[in-house]
Amino acid sequence: MLHLAGALFSLAVAFTQALPAPQIGNYGENSGPVGGVQPPTPTVTSTSGSLRGDSSLLGGNAPLPDPDKSDSAIVPNPQLVNGQEADANLGLYLNFDSANPPQPIRGAKGTTDPGPRTFDYEKLNPDLYAPPGTDAGDVPNLMWPMGLSHNRAGTGKNSGWARQQNTDVLPAATAMAGVDMRLAPNAYRELHWHTANEWALMLKGCVRVSAVDDEGRNFIDDVCAGDVWFFPAGAPHSIQAFDEGAEFLLVFDQGDFTEDGTFLVSELFLRNPIEVLSKDIKADISAFDNVPTDQLYIFNGTPPPKDIKNQTITSPDGTISGNESFTYHWSQQKPFTVPGGSVKILDPLTFPIAKMFSTALVVVQPGAMREIHWHTTSDEWSFFLQGSGRITVYTAPASSRTFDFTAGGVGYVPAAASHYIENTGDEDLIFLEVLQAPKFSDISVAQWLALTPKQVVKDHLHLPDAVIDALPKQKPLIVQGNKNLTALAGGDGRFE
Ligand SMILES: *[C@@H]1O[C@H](CO)[C@@H](O)[C@H](O)[C@H]1NC(C)=O
Ligand SMILES: *[C@@H]1O[C@H](CO)[C@@H](O)[C@H](O)[C@H]1NC(C)=O
Ligand SMILES: *[C@@H]1O[C@H](CO)[C@@H](O)[C@H](O)[C@H]1NC(C)=O
Repeated sequence: MLHLAGALFSLAVAFTQALPAPQIGNYGENSGPVGGVQPPTPTVTSTSGSLRGDSSLLGGNAPLPDPDKSDSAIVPNPQLVNGQEADANLGLYLNFDSANPPQPIRGAKGTTDPGPRTFDYEKLNPDLYAPPGTDAGDVPNLMWPMGLSHNRAGTGKNSGWARQQNTDVLPAATAMAGVDMRLAPNAYRELHWHTANEWALMLKGCVRVSAVDDEGRNFIDDVCAGDVWFFPAGAPHSIQAFDEGAEFLLVFDQGDFTEDGTFLVSELFLRNPIEVLSKDIKADISAFDNVPTDQLYIFNGTPPPKDIKNQTITSPDGTISGNESFTYHWSQQKPFTVPGGSVKILDPLTFPIAKMFSTALVVVQPGAMREIHWHTTSDEWSFFLQGSGRITVYTAPASSRTFDFTAGGVGYVPAAASHYIENTGDEDLIFLEVLQAPKFSDISVAQWLALTPKQVVKDHLHLPDAVIDALPKQKPLIVQGNKNLTALAGGDGRFE
């Protein structure tokens, strides 16, 4: 029996190496014999056998297997990609796209993987599967793809949805949480409020937002892709999409914020005695006959009038405007452009109401990298809008870990931990950095060393004089590099 299993296994191995796995979907699931089971198993119409074995199978009682003739864990002809055989400490980005299946090997580190896996995960996360040799120690998980988040549908027909990242799924992200929300044409996020401050970036389409603050002042504005709003904790607000629908990203300054835990106008009306409601807004009991019987959450609405003036209500206490405005039309701000990409910053210096939200929208071109830096006092919450990139987070004193990101991914970097964001794809990498700080700022490693006495730098790092002399005295923000991320594998170690 064991001989047969071995023979079948080698056959199956030879077979699966040659042909794509016959699966529904094509995510590279392993197939063939595994764990002593040989699929496909026969289909039967009645039960047979027993659930448990007996004592004859206990070690010492059972017949010994012959390891030479039993199951094999050899992976014949492992397929390595460009750069995979290079010194692990070079940490080249490994593009596993062409490897079927990829192998967790880097230089002399690691070996083949014969076992259970769905290798599309490994293709998406080459730096977790075959980490750079420089990764060390324990760094908590700092990545959450929204594609793994539970998606909550709105009420009513096809009105929208929202999915979120918080400490339930990413425990290290204690200071901030995020929600990716979709509203169908004219749909609403119901009137609501919460204990966290809310900062939002419009991703697609346009919405009308309205809010009231604790001074009795009101606010209404229209924002479109690239624009931002901020609602202070406790301030009730509404969001309604225009004809083309909308998608936006919400960032909250509480790591355990949950979109499912907000205060809702529908529930406020459901959870108070009707006698009290009647007294509060001076209404007959019949006025409450048609209030919703359940929360609305995200729901379809009547189209808002195009002209915002049609919805103007004048508050005797005034209007929220000027430097207290709840919106910033960020899409109209031109970015600061540098070789390799661009950066634009929105922080309380120009958007004062969002007191502690300091943000940057960064574009990094192929081959380029957001330089190695850290933020002095704040954790960083980041969101990838497009492209693919990787981040190595170095934490004190001697640990680091590298994570790979694609569009829809959330990243988190603890305060003072150094990191870079390298474009690992062949299109622009677009991402948002969010800090809880009164001003967007960072420490640039290159600038720090450039502004430190040369003798000090030389005594520490033994870098060549020419390298120290060429260090940039101003933050590069983004640095250019070879678009071929494995170029260093082939040449003489020269930078360009
Ligand atoms: C908007 O206001 C104008 C002027 O008061 C009015 O004529 C028009 O009917 C209004 N439109 C809507 C959609 O309310
Ligand atoms: C906002 O502007 C008003 C006057 O326009 C000024 O008195 C106030 O100090 C400003 N507030 C901030 C936070 O800059
Ligand atoms: C990238 O560089 C490596 C090492 O020199 C080389 O083998 C590979 O062909 C290059 N890739 C491309 C796409 O040029």
